[in-house]
Amino acid sequence: MTNYFEHHVFFCLNQRADGAACCADKGAEAAFDYMKSRVKKLKLSGQGKVRINRAGCLDRCGEGPLLVIYPQAIWYTFVDNDDIDEIIESHIMNGKVVERLAI
Ligand code: FES
Repeated sequence: MTNYFEHHVFFCLNQRADGAACCADKGAEAAFDYMKSRVKKLKLSGQGKVRINRAGCLDRCGEGPLLVIYPQAIWYTFVDNDDIDEIIESHIMNGKVVERLAI
């Protein structure tokens, strides 16, 4: 059986109410919006290709912001849109893990 999506990306967008470290306080929502729009613009989204999804807390709060790409189960952190572009171009388009952003 083939995978429904070649790359399934989950962004932690969790906001913690207790003031503890969380991805929502570190630009996760903006990065999510950017990656979703870039993937769409590049015509990479859809069945057999790429899906970008919201997720709740992924339990690595202190390391955020973060996303994870399945089925490779590679976790990334990121700082800005350039990092997201690099993940798209290297990992998603060329199958090469971005080691400097992997956690
Ligand atoms: S808040 Fe992002 S992993 Fe918990």
